[in-house]
Amino acid sequence: MAHEQEKEAAARASLRFIKNGQIVGLGTGSTAAYFIQLLGEQVKKGLKIRGIPSSGRSAEQAAGLGIPLTTFDEFPEIDVTVDGADEVDSQLRLIKGGGGALLREKIVASATRQYVIIADESKRVAVLGKFPLPVEVIKFAQPVVERKIHRLGAQVDLRLDSAGKPYLTDENNYILDCRFGRISDPPGLARQLSDMPGVVEHGLFIGMANVVLFARGNEIVELRAG
Ligand code: A5P
Repeated sequence: MAHEQEKEAAARASLRFIKNGQIVGLGTGSTAAYFIQLLGEQVKKGLKIRGIPSSGRSAEQAAGLGIPLTTFDEFPEIDVTVDGADEVDSQLRLIKGGGGALLREKIVASATRQYVIIADESKRVAVLGKFPLPVEVIKFAQPVVERKIHRLGAQVDLRLDSAGKPYLTDENNYILDCRFGRISDPPGLARQLSDMPGVVEHGLFIGMANVVLFARGNEIVELRAG
């Protein structure tokens, strides 16, 4: 429960980054859902923004709250995106994708001028890798990629849905959850994964976050990229 209050507090703190007239990227996950909820309240009070969602789930939530949505066809650049993360290190490097939306989330992040991450304090880590790193793969390549990642030293699990079937992303791909334990060289691992044919995207977000807002109890700790 404490985490839920912190998630909401971080989401509330991110509202000051949103200005009238902006294109706003909408993250995915339980923390981003608080942000979308609060943004919807601001829109009802007259804030004029348009959102680009990073998942079907977030699109549905935003539409239900009356947040006007747009697409990259109309606006290929996003002013500010607010999203959650599974882990954040001191260099603002992230693991994302616990909620399964890493591919669209990374595309949204890559098109964003100011990328704001909101999180409860439990997401802050010294070394990335305790949280299993999600890697999105095309179905055909799954056994091949799984073997290669295993050889890098990770325990690899194909993500399953609640019915026990392979989880499908918004883009109809599979996700491999890869337990590395400690990722000592995130940029090196990111390159190795990106070089594997069949890997669509991985959940290491390096050099993308501009601001991280951690909620610790009632306090908000703000970290900025150097
Ligand atoms: C969605 O795919 C993820 O990247 C989420 O942003 C991340 O898993 C954080 O989710 P929570 O806010 O639910 O912890």
